[in-house]
Amino acid sequence: MMLPIHDVVANAKTKKYKASLVDGTLTVPLAEIADDNMLILKNKELEFNILLIRKEGEFKALQMMCTHEGVPVTLSGETMHCSAHGSRFDFDGNVLQEPALKPLIQYEVSLNNNSILINTTKSK
Ligand code: FES
Repeated sequence: MMLPIHDVVANAKTKKYKASLVDGTLTVPLAEIADDNMLILKNKELEFNILLIRKEGEFKALQMMCTHEGVPVTLSGETMHCSAHGSRFDFDGNVLQEPALKPLIQYEVSLNNNSILINTTKSK
């Protein structure tokens, strides 16, 4: 099911979280992210942060890397912005403004008891 993610953003309080990474899987306690919120996941072994979005109990994990030339994107209002050449992406990862042509990389998310697992070796 496609998430109507856009209305998450206006009220989101975006905080950063240092997630553990084991065998390519990031683990985040479910309690760290309330519904209709976002979390920027960091780990020193990851080249790029991952934006975790929770909307209506469902999760989306987007690599914060511009698909134009591999530069980090930053949150900017209701979009993600790449300062290198001006690409913009929405919170479904879709390109809003070129030169990037491909959507942001999205990772598989699953739940295990009270943990959110993000498989950084499997993109959708
Ligand atoms: S690297 Fe992001 S727009 Fe070029």
